[in-house]
Amino acid sequence: MAIVAVHSQSLDQACSLLAQGQVVAIPTETVYGLAADAYQDQAIARIYQVKGRPQFNPLIIHYPDFTHVKEDVRINKWAELLAENFWPGPLTFVLPKQEASQISLLATAGLSTLAVRVPQHPVAQQLLAHYGRPLAAPSANRSNTISPTSAEDVACSLQDRVPLILDGGACSVGLESSIVDLTGDIPVLLRPGGITVEQLQAVLGKISVAAPGQTIKAPGMLKRHYAPNIPVRLNAVSPQAGEVYLGFGTYDHGSYNLSHRGDLLEAAANLFRFMRLLDQPHYRGMAIAPIPQHGLGLAINDRLKRASCQEEKE
Ligand code: TXA
Ligand code: MG
Repeated sequence: MAIVAVHSQSLDQACSLLAQGQVVAIPTETVYGLAADAYQDQAIARIYQVKGRPQFNPLIIHYPDFTHVKEDVRINKWAELLAENFWPGPLTFVLPKQEASQISLLATAGLSTLAVRVPQHPVAQQLLAHYGRPLAAPSANRSNTISPTSAEDVACSLQDRVPLILDGGACSVGLESSIVDLTGDIPVLLRPGGITVEQLQAVLGKISVAAPGQTIKAPGMLKRHYAPNIPVRLNAVSPQAGEVYLGFGTYDHGSYNLSHRGDLLEAAANLFRFMRLLDQPHYRGMAIAPIPQHGLGLAINDRLKRASCQEEKE
């Protein structure tokens, strides 16, 4: 069983796993999170692999305090007010990402905004401070199952897919953080959660609530979501005149290959970086090699399909 009690040795072990690009399940006051180093593309790809998520949803990035948050996002008056009142705690802000931010493009699913949170749970706090880098963490369960609120729930859902589960007891809040989008003219509650809309209203004065249908569930529903400007052609075995080719495994023509060894984890980790790199107006289009439709291939193909639909753009 991967469940371990929290002490300095297990915290060290968690940090060394995270540094190696592995995932670690950690307690937060809301639900248990499946944490990975937010700077490492392959670590983020592993989150999707372990959860069995068929889509690259943008993830919440966790920090030890507000000071560290400011390194990755541009804050505003609302963020200051909310942080003062509710952080550390079950509240997530969506803010514009800093140009220089090192957060993995896969963690944000290519968005120019970032969801950030300072959790309150003492174990999450300790680990974040000790590790010294931000952690991406969705709930630590298989996709489409109930969020875990104890170490045993995590073990039950993920079994031997996670090398370490830090046992921080039962989660005190027991439901996910509230998510507020602070990038627009007025704050918008995207997901109700641990902090109520009344609490938010009392601090902000005004807030609008996204209709359930408008809540961001999939990246394709997001405005400003990254899709290349040049046409994208899928399942291409070779490039046509003027196209740049993005290979996979033995489908290889030229300089760009998502994974020469045909490894889906590596391909997922490289996907957004390559799409961005190859999105140049001097190409007539981007031709992309067939990607096998299993494991992480499902999420890769979902993203590629969205990228190839021109009407999905802003
Ligand atoms: O309580 C929580 O927030 C837990 C614990 C582990 O911290 N985490 C969590 O993460 O619920 P997750 O990955 O299940 O939820 C992330 C959600 C996405 O589905 C998306 O709706 C939203 O956060 N999100 C992330 N980045 C966003 C962005 N840039 N813009 C809008 N929404 C975003
Ligand atoms: Mg979840």
